[in-house]
Amino acid sequence: MKRTQRLDKVLSNFGFGSRSEIKKLVKAGRVVVDGMAAKDASVYVDPENSNITVNGKKLNYRKFIYVMMNKPAGIISATYDAKLKTAIDILPEEFACFDLFPAGRLDIDTEGMLLLTNDGQLAHDILSPKKHVDKRYYALIDGQVTDEDVQRFADGVVIDDGYRTMPAELSVIRSGLRSEIELVLHEGKFHQVKRMFEAVGKKVVYLKRIQMGGLRLDESLEPGECRELTAEEVELLKR
Ligand code: URA
Repeated sequence: MKRTQRLDKVLSNFGFGSRSEIKKLVKAGRVVVDGMAAKDASVYVDPENSNITVNGKKLNYRKFIYVMMNKPAGIISATYDAKLKTAIDILPEEFACFDLFPAGRLDIDTEGMLLLTNDGQLAHDILSPKKHVDKRYYALIDGQVTDEDVQRFADGVVIDDGYRTMPAELSVIRSGLRSEIELVLHEGKFHQVKRMFEAVGKKVVYLKRIQMGGLRLDESLEPGECRELTAEEVELLKR
């Protein structure tokens, strides 16, 4: 990331309005950079290391940030797509200046916990098979999920490409014509939950990720909403 950015760009990324509104704020002497009122909105500042205040309030610029999103169905977990809406497209304005990207994937129809960060090392660790971070899913399954399925998932199932999955913990919450389950995976293959159920002749009709590592999805987040993680939560994720 560039160290210096135009002051008006930094302020617009923090949601201080249009270029002309920001120009007015600066002209009125309301924007102070390192103790001096900024003269012009087009000056270059270092948002990471400078003390910038607007109307006396300090901008809280952080190098790395970690955002938990409750991804809704219909949104893809990518940074850019020519046709489809991405998780980055639906981020609130306040996060726009941080160059966030999703650490991990969820299918377009999967809901739940998506982590967005600009910390490449943490994203790498979350995705790395060596340091694998467990993921817990909640799902509705068309068909009766049985104790035999629990055992087969514990033994590993052979999915469509011939790969035998690692042992996974399946818990049946309710078994019926439509069953309700939770599943913990210790690896992350493409479409893995759906393919594991296909391997036992069943179909996932609803899927939601509810936990990554020691960090649970904040259930107060409506689909599409997000919030920044606390330092303690970032630690839970690494654990
Ligand atoms: N497994 C799937 O099948 N889909 C997801 O989105 C995540 C895990």
